[in-house]
Amino acid sequence: MKNKSINKIVIVGTGFVGSTTAYTLMVSGLVSEIVLIDQNSKKAEGEAMDMNHGMPFVRPVRIYNGDYSDCRGADIVVITGGANQKPGETRIDLVNKNTEIFKDIVGNIVKYNTDCILLVVTNPVDILTYVTYKLSGFPKNRVIGSGTVLDTARFKYMLGEHMGVDPRNVHAYIIGEHGDTEVPTWSLASIAGIPMDSYCKECKSCDDESFKRDTFDKVKNAAYEIIDRKNATYYAVALAVRRIVEAIVRNENSILTVSSLFEGEYGLNDICLSIPSQVNSEGVSRILNVPLNDEETGLLNKSAQALKEVISGLNL
Ligand code: 2OP
Repeated sequence: MKNKSINKIVIVGTGFVGSTTAYTLMVSGLVSEIVLIDQNSKKAEGEAMDMNHGMPFVRPVRIYNGDYSDCRGADIVVITGGANQKPGETRIDLVNKNTEIFKDIVGNIVKYNTDCILLVVTNPVDILTYVTYKLSGFPKNRVIGSGTVLDTARFKYMLGEHMGVDPRNVHAYIIGEHGDTEVPTWSLASIAGIPMDSYCKECKSCDDESFKRDTFDKVKNAAYEIIDRKNATYYAVALAVRRIVEAIVRNENSILTVSSLFEGEYGLNDICLSIPSQVNSEGVSRILNVPLNDEETGLLNKSAQALKEVISGLNL
């Protein structure tokens, strides 16, 4: 029988995010082959060597550094390459530099693979997901941004900490841009079917409104706070990418706040942003129509507007 590799993942960019993602996938046991591509091929080689030496401790997985021709046969290509935020910079500040870098990266991937799922992680992720959709010519379901999966995790963690509940049992979503205009959907937040507001009323341990404001500020500013302290964020985003990869390779139909192309959903068109979406082996199979209240709808529109303005200035 032909030695077909199953669940082959390529990671473009072996900076902190790319290499931590590779390591996280290595220990997850989810995939059988991980290829590392970086313009600094020595760095990719060093990361592959370092991970390979841990192989006796994990389930078998082939890890090697390669070039774009190794995208052949890949199921998912994760793009983490490009410039990252420095202290004081916003994600949007990176847009021109990273759009140029993406012309090269996406052009090279599609030379060798037009059947894979492209998973964009580089910031500003919503804009670069849109750029990747345009440059690749792929159907929209196969171009996914990590979007607000990370922000949603931060939100669940902080709510779980506050309420003393396992964050996996907190249902809450951050939607819109992965960035300064993101939106907390308090109206959808619940624990065991109990709406967050009722839960808080019973608990009586905090002032509802200031708690909401402070928690959302912490979620929205988390990356700035971490970058101030250690110049980069990578552990949680790598786990978020692992979760998206899991939903794809195991065909899970999981609901995740990934970023993908909107074509009329929520009245929005020709833009990528995050909303709870169904993810399976096809990529994003469905954007859910979640019941937002008027304030959330207004904020989602503002977030979309802000991204539209950035898109209109792109040199594609
Ligand atoms: C984060 O939110 C910087 O987008 C990255 O951690």
